[in-house]
Amino acid sequence: MNYINTEIDHVAVVLRKRLKSLEPKSNIMKAVELKALADQLKSIPPHERPDFGRQLNELRNELMAQVNSQAQENSTLPPIDVTAPIDINVTKHPELLPSSNGSAHPLTVEIDRIVDIYARMGFSAVESRQLDDDFHMFTSLNFPEDHPARDEYDTFMTKQTDSKGSPLIAPAHTSVMQTRILKANKHLLETGQSIAYVVPGRIFRNEDLDARHEHTFHQLEGIYVAQNVTIGNLIAVLTTFFESYYGKTMEIKTNPFYFPFTEPSLEFSIACPFCDKAGCKICGEGWLEMLGCGMINPNVLQIAGIDPEKYNGFAWGGGIDRLVMIKDNIEDVRHFHSAKLDFLRQF
Ligand code: DAH
Repeated sequence: MNYINTEIDHVAVVLRKRLKSLEPKSNIMKAVELKALADQLKSIPPHERPDFGRQLNELRNELMAQVNSQAQENSTLPPIDVTAPIDINVTKHPELLPSSNGSAHPLTVEIDRIVDIYARMGFSAVESRQLDDDFHMFTSLNFPEDHPARDEYDTFMTKQTDSKGSPLIAPAHTSVMQTRILKANKHLLETGQSIAYVVPGRIFRNEDLDARHEHTFHQLEGIYVAQNVTIGNLIAVLTTFFESYYGKTMEIKTNPFYFPFTEPSLEFSIACPFCDKAGCKICGEGWLEMLGCGMINPNVLQIAGIDPEKYNGFAWGGGIDRLVMIKDNIEDVRHFHSAKLDFLRQF
């Protein structure tokens, strides 16, 4: 259809073309060109107005008719059968966004680096889990029933229960994987090999949130079992890791501590890399506590079916987010899950 008025005719051509790719189609009625024509109506000589107004209305009606016919077409599309088998022979694949549009999350990048450093020391990696039971969270780790140490872990629980009637638990530490790893690999010990694993995982605690505390964060667990393992082996592995991760020689310190699953238990600290032990607002008094560790309690080995008279080992567990915050000078743990692109794009 042609319009006698050349301006209206020109707008008609432009808008018909635009309508083809516009979504939702109804937005065409808000086109600036239509508004400009309506505004023009007020300023043209009075005797030309009726004709101009009529043509403008016709254009509106034409566009509206097209919008409506499209809507009808859409509503009559056959429903998609989501249960239909997928035809893997189709030649035309949907266009996916190129991966250059995004990047790995800074924590993912760092977890890869961490696991890689331990891999070079001979540790395999297995991921932790995000829902577990009372046995793996506590009992298998030598927390007796009703032991006050259970209260140290303020966990989230589900209404759903396990076979013993206890609620399922969002794990509050990656230690939940210890017994699983020991059970699955104990055959290695009989052939003179060791069990050496690290376990990165997302963990959950009912925390009051601030710059240092998140309800969801990440830990790395490590476990090593063989014959005649010493606490010196433990300290050597951890020191090697920290020196490799921060790329400098590290002074370290251990303090006695208590965990039900290790005996003896230690807290492992590094000299603050920001102030070199002088004391600053990040470390307080010159040291940063990085993780808990110790020699695996014989009861934990026994629960996994390993003879503690023959074999022993060490384990450790500590926060990954904190490790990365220190390395990259990140002041607030909540940035990691904030989905703020200006934060994420710095890495
Ligand atoms: N699971 C402990 C926690 O989150 C950390 C830990 C301490 C892990 C000592 C260990 C260990 O494997 O041996 O508080």
